[in-house]
Order: sequence, then structure tokens, then C-alpha cells
Amino acid sequence: MVGVFYLIIFIHYLWSSVYCAKDCPKICMCLGEYVDCSQKNLKTVPLNIPEWTSQLNLNNNRLQSFHSDAFQNLTHLTELKLNKNKIGVIPKDAFDTLKRLEILELNRNQLEDIEALTFKSLEQLVTLRLKRNRISQLKDGAFYGLIKIKSLMLDYNSIQIISKRWLYGLNNLKELTFSHNVINDIHADAWEVCKDLKSLDLSNNQIKAIQKDTFKHLNNLEKLLLQNNNITFIKEGAFDHLPNLKILQLNNNHISWAIEDANGVFNSLNNLFKFYIASNNIKSINKNAFKGLSNVAYLDLTNNNITSVQKNAFNEMPLLQVLSLNTSALLCDCNLRWFYDWLTLKQFRVQTICSYPEQLQGISLLEVAVNNFTCVDLPKPRLIEEPEPEIMALKGENISLSCKAMSSAAGPMNFIWKKDNVELLHADVNVIAATYDGKNTESTSILKIFKVKNSDAGKYQCVVFNEFGATYSQKSSISVLIFPTFVKIPQNIAIKAGSTARLECAAHGEPFPEIAWQKDGGNDFPAARERRMHVMPTDDVFFIVNAKPIDVGVYSCTANNAAGTIIANATLTIEEMPSFVKPMEDKEITAGESVVLQCMAAGIPKPTIQWIKDGGPIHATERHFFTAEDQLMIIVDTVMSDAGIYQCQLNNSLGTETDSSELLVKPGVTNDNELMGIIIITVVCCAVLTSVVWVVIIYQTRKSLPQFGDTSSDNSSCKDSGTGNSAKRSNDDLLPGDEYTLIINDNNGEDANGVPRRTASLVYLVNDSNNSHMPLLHKDRPLYPRSTNHERVEDTEPSSSDVKVDSVPTNNNLDG
Ligand SMILES: *[C@@H]1O[C@H](CO)[C@@H](O)[C@H](O)[C@H]1NC(C)=O
Ligand SMILES: *[C@@H]1O[C@H](CO)[C@@H](O)[C@H](O)[C@H]1NC(C)=O
Ligand SMILES: *[C@@H]1O[C@H](CO)[C@@H](O)[C@H](O)[C@H]1NC(C)=O
Ligand SMILES: *[C@@H]1O[C@H](CO)[C@@H](O)[C@H](O)[C@H]1NC(C)=O
Ligand SMILES: *[C@@H]1O[C@H](CO)[C@@H](O)[C@H](O)[C@H]1NC(C)=O
Ligand SMILES: *[C@@H]1O[C@H](CO)[C@@H](O)[C@H](O)[C@H]1NC(C)=O
Ligand SMILES: *[C@@H]1O[C@H](CO)[C@@H](O)[C@H](O)[C@H]1NC(C)=O
Ligand SMILES: *[C@@H]1O[C@H](CO)[C@@H](O)[C@H](O)[C@H]1NC(C)=O
Repeated sequence: MVGVFYLIIFIHYLWSSVYCAKDCPKICMCLGEYVDCSQKNLKTVPLNIPEWTSQLNLNNNRLQSFHSDAFQNLTHLTELKLNKNKIGVIPKDAFDTLKRLEILELNRNQLEDIEALTFKSLEQLVTLRLKRNRISQLKDGAFYGLIKIKSLMLDYNSIQIISKRWLYGLNNLKELTFSHNVINDIHADAWEVCKDLKSLDLSNNQIKAIQKDTFKHLNNLEKLLLQNNNITFIKEGAFDHLPNLKILQLNNNHISWAIEDANGVFNSLNNLFKFYIASNNIKSINKNAFKGLSNVAYLDLTNNNITSVQKNAFNEMPLLQVLSLNTSALLCDCNLRWFYDWLTLKQFRVQTICSYPEQLQGISLLEVAVNNFTCVDLPKPRLIEEPEPEIMALKGENISLSCKAMSSAAGPMNFIWKKDNVELLHADVNVIAATYDGKNTESTSILKIFKVKNSDAGKYQCVVFNEFGATYSQKSSISVLIFPTFVKIPQNIAIKAGSTARLECAAHGEPFPEIAWQKDGGNDFPAARERRMHVMPTDDVFFIVNAKPIDVGVYSCTANNAAGTIIANATLTIEEMPSFVKPMEDKEITAGESVVLQCMAAGIPKPTIQWIKDGGPIHATERHFFTAEDQLMIIVDTVMSDAGIYQCQLNNSLGTETDSSELLVKPGVTNDNELMGIIIITVVCCAVLTSVVWVVIIYQTRKSLPQFGDTSSDNSSCKDSGTGNSAKRSNDDLLPGDEYTLIINDNNGEDANGVPRRTASLVYLVNDSNNSHMPLLHKDRPLYPRSTNHERVEDTEPSSSDVKVDSVPTNNNLDG
């Protein structure tokens, strides 16, 4: 007591001696270089504070502001305290001369914003305290110039956003505190300027999510306080930026899933020493929850009312020294037996009370007899049905995911659905009511997603929980696909040989469709072999240069993605002027006979053929037949007036070509009655583009007697000049007694003048022993009658005659 008394005397003496110092402002107290003007109800900064002052205390006054030159002369100042005043504004340039200032305290004032360059000259400042103001606005460059600053405290303000713009210049900062603000947004590159930060206090804010780059650049951070936020989401890999983190405080958030489902958000924190994750409503501990946390010595799991701990969940933390854990909800069944052993071995002081099974309720885990850890039933929900790991949904489709869970407890099970680890709060969920059969409860939850959008893509998961724990389903990854659609469709093109063909094809879809080309259903591109094909890698076009007939074909563009395939075909044709395969020939016949006029055409597109006589078009009549696509005109029962000039006009898109022939008709002898079984066979070979056509005309009297081969007259210009296996065909092929029928087909539409087009064909109708119809002159392709029309036989002369005409293509490609 006596010692204390003397000490007080001594201090009093010291004070008075200083107080008496000549240049100490009257109202303040001075001690050495320390000037104390605190608690003096000052409204202004006293004048004449001595220049030698190195510490100035103006705490607890009523300063609302101060003059910009108030501290102008205090060039020796190293510490300035202005706490607990009413300062609302810091005048510009106020600190300009304080080149030695190391500590500046402005706690408990009324600052609302910090202007740019406010502290620009404080080049020795190490600590700046701005706690308990009303700061919401930090202007860009607010702290610029503080090149030595190590510690900045901004606790208890109203800051919402952390941005690089106002952190600019804080390159040496080691400690930064923001507790009790309203921070809900940390810009991705915020920490770019303070890479040396060792300690960051963000506790008691409103942070909801930690994104991938929330802590980017903080490679040196050792202490991170995030307790009492509202964190529900931590992006995988978010902590990868913090390899040196030693202390992580996450108490009082909502990240139970990170421990229950263990998706590796903490994996990279290999240097973590203290890990606080109390009060996060963690129900169960996954065996992988602490993976990677191999240096943790202190773990706080209190206030989580944990029900179950998977076997060996703590094995990842071999250095664990302190485990804080209190729960009264443990499910003390056979699955927890290991925990008993482990706790007994480690001798941690934990508070672990069982709540299940009933007979163990309220008993400490450590007091349960070894034999009493039994699994009679399984009250913790388990999933018996969960969503597929991969779901491909077509955009616009409705899809649903379903989770079915089972528990031996009678109580209800609750489901939540998560997308990318975030709970879906407004999802459309159907819960099929729980059914309890006396032994087990079963319940199903169905998540419905209507009209799937791109934004619906993600990883979905259901969580089912009851008072005995929570179970997480596997994650179901939904990709949203869009069926391919063409945005550029290849068009049919016709070009002249030698020019360049351009085919384009492009498609949209999700994922972006791959485009492939085929020619005639195969991968053989003659143009590619001859290096005449050029595919534009960046474009959706390919070119065939110097087009040749071999390039003709159907080019198919295939657009394919996971949703499906679409094909568009385009035909490439090489165009040719119409031309005559051979010149038309003049003919001479006897009236009454039949004649075939030929007009053998070529050209692409296939030319139309128009027969003209005496300046007017010839139409099909009972005596005029057209066949072989109008390349042949057959006139039967010729009369004298049939004589004349016959013109054949070929026309296609490239032009018109005309040729002509003259028909001479000699007066004939009518010998119908005498002629028995006259068979006139006209065999004409015609090159119709690529096909060869045989035409046979048979003229037979009705009273025909099977005197086959008796007399024949041939008007053909090229009898028996058919090609290929038809070469040997002749009238010898026609067997006596066979019956041939002329088919006149009226169903071929109309020609340009509205006259019904008629074609005639000869069909061999005899029934042979096999009861099969044998075609004439062509054994590979049976011809079936399409119509029969014998009327002209009745009403025209020679009434007793049948005309049989057939045109038989020797290949199937007549239309080609
Ligand atoms: C600073 O010093 C100058 C001259 O020495 C003096 O005129 C001025 O009043 C002083 N300022 C303050 C705020 O004391
Ligand atoms: C936390 O966030 C949830 C929703 O995200 C909100 O309902 C709740 O009020 C927030 N809690 C606090 C303390 O901000
Ligand atoms: C854990 O202990 C704290 C205080 O010791 C208590 O408030 C809390 O309710 C306990 N939590 C559980 C789950 O028992
Ligand atoms: C913990 O869980 C038990 C059993 O489920 C319950 O009785 C108790 O109230 C819970 N305690 C806390 C603090 O939530
Ligand atoms: C533990 O099991 C023994 C028999 O193995 C039984 O007698 C005892 O009642 C059980 N204790 C509890 C709390 O159920
Ligand atoms: C998707 O569901 C909505 C609402 O039930 C319904 O109107 C719509 O027809 C469904 N669409 C498909 C493609 O099933
Ligand atoms: C396109 O051409 C290919 C091959 O030539 C053919 O198989 C397919 O049926 C054609 N598709 C369409 C839609 O024309
Ligand atoms: C040839 O055909 C074209 C259409 O392909 C038509 O416009 C033109 O009039 C025809 N010319 C003749 C001479 O028939």
C-alpha cells in the first residue's frame, strides 16, 4: 500500500512538472513528447500544440471537424488519437505535413465516407483505425499513399462491397478487419493489391457465398475469420487460393453440407491448424469431411447436435489435439461403435450424449457398454432411389428427378433439393406422403423442372433428413441440350461443267453441332481425291472447283450433337445444253404401216421434248403414241397425210435445240385381210440419257393365225441393234401363240395443252406353267398392266387389228 501511495505521488509530481512546461497548451497535459488533450470537451483542436509533440491524444472530445492546418506544425507527430469525437469530415490536406505519423486512430466518429487521397502523405503510417464510424462509402483511392501501412481496421461500419478500387495502394497491408459491417459482395479481383495480407477479419457480415475467386491472390493469408455470416455456399476450389491458411473461423454459418456431404471444399487447406465450424447445423460427419486437413490440431464442432459420425472420419487429422464437440443427438448404434473406441483412445473431452436407441437416450456415448452398440433398426434416412448421375434434357422438355428414402423411424422425413450445392428454395417439388408400415417409413420427393432452360443445367442433389441424420444423394448432372437446327441449308445446285460449286451448311444446337458431309450416302468424294474440294475451316462452306460430271450426286450435310442428328440433302447437277444424240432420220413408209420416229435427246436437266408438225404441236391420238419419254413417236395405221416434216424441239433451262426429219408416205395396198399374223416388229435402240430402251411394235391382225415369222417387215432404223444382253433379241423371241396386249395408259396426266397423255405398252400376258407373267424382251423386270384400253380397237378401222407396243427399259434408271 505504501508503495502504491508513493508511486501516485511520483506520477503526480511528474505530471505537474510537465504541466508546468512552458509551451504545453493550457488545457492539455504534456509528458515528455506526449500531449494529452483527451476528455476536455474540446470543439476545436487547441492552438499552439508544441512542435515537438510526438504523441497527441485528442480522444473523447467534441470535435466535429478540424482545420486543414490544425496539425500543420506537428511534424514530429508519430501517433495521433482522435477517437470518440464527432468528426464527420476530414479536411483535405489535413495530414499533409505529418510525414512521421505511424498511428492514426479515428475510431468512434461519424465519418460516412473517405475521400480519395485523404491519407496521401502519411508515408510512415503503419496503423489506421477507423472502427465504429458510419462509413459506407470508400472512394476509389481512399487509402492511396499509405505505403507502409500494415494494419487497417474498419470494423463496425456500413461497408457493403469490397473492391480493389478503394484498396488501391495498400500493397503492404498485413492485417485488415471488417467485422460487423454489411459486406455481401467481395469482388473477384479485390485482393489483387494486397497480396501480403496475413489476417483478414470478415466476421459478422452478410456474406452468403464464397465464390471461386473470393479469396484470389491471398496466397499469404494465415488467418481468415468468417464467423457469423450467412454463408450457405462455398464454391469448390474457393480455398485453393489460401495455401498458407492456418486459422479458419466459420462458426455460425450454414455450411453443414460441406461436412455432411464432403465435396472437398476444404481439401486444399493443408496448413490449416485451427478449424472452427461450430453452429452450422451439422447433423452427420462424412468420412471424407476432413480430407486434406492434415495439420489441424484444433477442431471446433460444438453446437451442431451431430447424430452420426462415419467411421474413421477423423483419421485425416492425425495431429488433432483439441476436439470440441457437444451433441445430445447421437445415434448410438453399431455404426458408432468405432467412435466410442476412438474417443476412449484419444481421451478428448467431448460431450456426447446418445438420443437413440431409446434405452440409451441421455446416456453419454462413453458410458455405453460395448455390447450395447447394436443395429436393430436404421432410423437415419437412407436412399433407396436417387437421380441418375447424368441426365440429358432437351431444352423445353419437362423433367423430374426423384429421391426415395426409407427410415425405421416413424417420424417424418424432410427433403431438400440442391442445385450446385445451393438449396433450391422455390422449386416445384412433389412429396409423396410418408407411409409407415409399422417397421419402416418410406417417402419420395420429386423435383420437377418444367420447360428446361439453359440455366437449369447443373448438378442436382437431394438431401433427406430427419432427427436421426441427413443423407445426401449422388449428384445428378443435368445438361441442357438443344436439338440441332439448320441455319444454313445446302441448296440444290446446277452448274456448268468446269465451274465452281458452292455448298453451305451450318447448324445451331447445344452443344454446338458437328457438321459432316457425305456424298450419295458415302464418304467418297471424287472431288476430294482430285484435290478439287476445299472446305473452309472457319466457314460453313465447301467448294468444288472445276466441277465434273463425276461430282454429280446428293450431298448430305449432317449436323450432330448429343441431342440428335439432322440431315439436309442437296443435289449437285452439272448442266448441259439439250442436244441430239444422233440426228433425226428421214423415213419412208407405205400408208397403213406403222412408223417410229426418233428424237434421241441428251441434256441436263433432262430436256422436254416437243414434237411439231406443220408448225403445230403433235398430241397423242389414237394413232400417235409417244414413248421413251417422248423420244419416240409411233404412228400406226399411217395415212397419206401423215407425210411431212416432223420437228423435234428439245428444251431445258439452258436452251432449246431443234432437229427435223421428213416422213414420206407411199400409197399402200390394203392387204389386211390377206395378211395373216403379220407381225411388225420394230426394235429400236434409243439412248435416253443413260438408259437404253427397246421398243417393239407388233401389229397383228385380229384374225391372226399363229404363223409366226411368216412375214415380217421391219421399219426400224436399227433393228436388233439393242445393246447388252438384249443384243440377240429379235422377232425370234416372240413365241407363236402367245398373247400380247396393248396397254394404253390414260393416266399419265396431261400435256401442256391439256390433252391427256397416253402411252402404250405391250404386255405379255400368257400364263405359263409357273403361273408367272413373263415380260417381253426383258426377263428381269416383270411388267404389270396398269390399265387396259382396247376401245380404239372397236371403233376404228382396221377394226380387226390390235396394236401392241411396248417399251421396255433395260435398266431401272429411265428417270435418271
Ligand atoms: C504553425 O506555425 C505558424 C508559424 O510558426 C503559426 O503562424 C501558426 O499559427 C501555427 N499553426 C497552428 C495551427 O498552430
Ligand atoms: C441469410 O440468408 C437467408 C436467405 O439467403 C435469409 O433468409 C436470412 O434472413 C439471412 N440471415 C441473415 C442473418 O442475414
Ligand atoms: C453445446 O454447448 C453450448 C454451450 O456449452 C450450448 O449452448 C449448446 O446448446 C450445446 N449444443 C449442443 C448441441 O448440445
Ligand atoms: C439436439 O438434439 C436432441 C435430440 O434430437 C434434442 O433433444 C436437443 O434439443 C437438440 N439440442 C439442440 C441444442 O439443438
Ligand atoms: C446393455 O446391454 C446389456 C446386456 O448386454 C443389458 O443388460 C443392459 O441393460 C444394456 N444397457 C442399456 C443401457 O441398454
Ligand atoms: C410440361 O408441363 C406443363 C405443365 O404441366 C405442360 O403444360 C406441358 O405440356 C408439358 N410439356 C411437355 C413437353 O410435356
Ligand atoms: C439424303 O440422301 C441420302 C443419301 O443419298 C438418303 O439416304 C436420304 O434418305 C436423303 N434424305 C433426305 C431427307 O432426302
Ligand atoms: C423452255 O423451258 C423453259 C422453262 O424450263 C420455258 O420458260 C421456256 O419457255 C421453254 N422454251 C421453249 C421454247 O419451250
